[in-house]
Amino acid sequence: MKPKKVWVEKAKKNAALEAVKHVKDDFVIGLGSGSTVAYAIEEIGNRTKREGLRVLGVPTSYQAFMSAVEREIPITTLEEHPVLDLTIDGADQIDEELNLIKGMGGALTREKIVANASKELIIVADENKKVKVLGENNHPIPIEVIPFAAKPVMHKIKEMGGTPVLRESGGKVGPVITDNGNVIIDANFGLLQNPTELELKLKSIPGIVETGLFIKMADVVYIGKPDYTEKIERKK
Ligand code: 5RP
Repeated sequence: MKPKKVWVEKAKKNAALEAVKHVKDDFVIGLGSGSTVAYAIEEIGNRTKREGLRVLGVPTSYQAFMSAVEREIPITTLEEHPVLDLTIDGADQIDEELNLIKGMGGALTREKIVANASKELIIVADENKKVKVLGENNHPIPIEVIPFAAKPVMHKIKEMGGTPVLRESGGKVGPVITDNGNVIIDANFGLLQNPTELELKLKSIPGIVETGLFIKMADVVYIGKPDYTEKIERKK
């Protein structure tokens, strides 16, 4: 067995390369965030140079914006293109129905807006992201919250049986502030037997902007494994 770090990076890259094969000339593409999508953005950039592929990208975060600029992918906005052809994004957990937990990179709100504006959402990930039930291994749900509401939202989450933690910044003192000027609360609800119901309950709490639960949004998932890439399509 190869050392984990080596195969995981290769698996992420292979999954990303498969996703980029869906990109066609004149596509407007949502560019997701995270280390796996970074390989996809790199490959889109390579194809624009290699094949003269013409695309426009809508970045979901400052990170995605900077990667697109570095790869010389022309940028556009949802104002100019409210309907996108395709979004490629990563995920933190993927269940058997292709429901997702996203947002460990803190970009969940823009990611969900862009995914929802897209005709197709393709997710790229390595095998470690696959689970039977969302919430396995005590994985929390990232939730973007208006700072004014942080404490009451944490109180409500506790009342609902969750364990909320305000995400702290690794690079400065104080909380992580999202690209939208909000904070992130990571809420552990254990195993999510009914993620749809939980999503609805959370979205009804004033101050919650968005949750990292992406229910029935992914159309195709590419899972990079040590030796091959698995393609899974959502049953409709
Ligand atoms: C950011 C996300 C990312 O897509 C998710 O965290 C996966 O990242 P990586 O590919 O680095 O594991 O949702 O908000």
